[in-house]
Amino acid sequence: LMREVLETYKPHILSRRRRLIEDCVRDLRLNNDHIHIVEQEMRKAIDDGLGNASHATASVKCFPTYVRRLPNGKEQGKFLSLDLGGTNFRVIVMELTPDQEFLMDSKIYAIPLSIMRGTGEELFDHIASCLASFVKDREIGDEKLPLGFTFSFPCAQEGLAKARLVKWTKGFCCSGVEGEDVVRLLHESLRKRGDVDIEICAILNDTTGCLMSCAWHEPRCRVGLILGTGTNACYLEEIEDIHTIDQDDFKGQKHMLVNTEWGAFGDKGELDFIRTKWDRNVDDMSVNPGKQIFEKMISGMYMGELIRQVLVDLMKDDLIFFGAHRDKILERGSFFTRYASEIESDPVGDYTRAKACLVEMDIDPTSVTDEDCSSLRYVCEVVSRRASFMASAGITALLKKMDYKDVVIAIDGSLFRYHPHFKNVMQSRISQLMGIDYKFDLMLSEDGSGRGAALVAAVLKRGE
Ligand code: GLC
Repeated sequence: LMREVLETYKPHILSRRRRLIEDCVRDLRLNNDHIHIVEQEMRKAIDDGLGNASHATASVKCFPTYVRRLPNGKEQGKFLSLDLGGTNFRVIVMELTPDQEFLMDSKIYAIPLSIMRGTGEELFDHIASCLASFVKDREIGDEKLPLGFTFSFPCAQEGLAKARLVKWTKGFCCSGVEGEDVVRLLHESLRKRGDVDIEICAILNDTTGCLMSCAWHEPRCRVGLILGTGTNACYLEEIEDIHTIDQDDFKGQKHMLVNTEWGAFGDKGELDFIRTKWDRNVDDMSVNPGKQIFEKMISGMYMGELIRQVLVDLMKDDLIFFGAHRDKILERGSFFTRYASEIESDPVGDYTRAKACLVEMDIDPTSVTDEDCSSLRYVCEVVSRRASFMASAGITALLKKMDYKDVVIAIDGSLFRYHPHFKNVMQSRISQLMGIDYKFDLMLSEDGSGRGAALVAAVLKRGE
């Protein structure tokens, strides 16, 4: 009789627990109205960023990049690039051949936490020393190669090779850099060494690099998007609509790339209507509370922690991982965004990858049930779907702003690259928001930060 009772009631009990979980995370689920408001507000914030009077107080700064020409596939030459702003720092040398080949050699250098949070001088001395040893090892020190610097932080640019850091993001906080021209700081560190003679001819954001790298072989490319440690987008704007530059300086020219720095959207409260207590926790614990609110709801640096916070709340109510070893998962930062990509990559009903992630969190897979694994997957899906909806709202705001009917969006970053459903969810959500007549493509852009910097330098050299 007991077994019979259990068999009858078990599914009922299971679904009751699942219902409680669904109920608990319901604030993370966005409906069409929410997404529509995000799109509208983003559109307004972008317009404010471009306006002369509204720029100072705008959340989305829309910095002009001074990049006015896209590559046409004919660029050639040998270039150096530096890439700072993701998980790694890289030095790259590349050659663009006349038959449209990209030859490259690069090296990754660690940026220790002590340097990420030390003085600016230490940071730039470190970069200069990596660059010096790189060109020495390859015996290219005497070639005086032009260098493009991909520096992926919000900068107010005053020219192609002049950029003042406005504010550090993504966990960096080196002293003495905010407000300074980053190109000058790097030049100074190089000059102090005296052993390398290099001309920094362009500084760019990773979104710009991403767009340029794609545009090199795809002329329909008009938007660059990063979904990685942070999130940001750039797009091609009409010069006459950028009111923060002197129009007289650009007579006869039509377009310029604009670095939106949309990660800061929400810093004026625009997203308060959908922020949850978990979002506020993630923000409070960060090195820059109150800043980069959109980024913190979307990107890889924060998504794992957000999921962990939700799981911890579910554990408090014994809705998940009952009786499992919980010490590690209770630690801040112990759930990586990469886990969500893994967990959601399992075929439905299979928990192989999920269990491997649990092992990394010191949870014995035999101590959890399939129902736990299914709930874990559900929480990951709710958080990652919300992120892709929000990124879609942002992209839609840009597409509606531009006067093109067929646009390629170049995308790079670990979240987009490794998450199994991010692209599909974005594809269908943007289609829905833009209407079926609008044509667009989401294209993975290979190594934009490296190639893009060489291309900005190369387009500059192309002259014309
Ligand atoms: C952060 C930076 C931005 C960069 C983005 C992606 O939002 O502020 O400049 O493009 O991360 O790396």
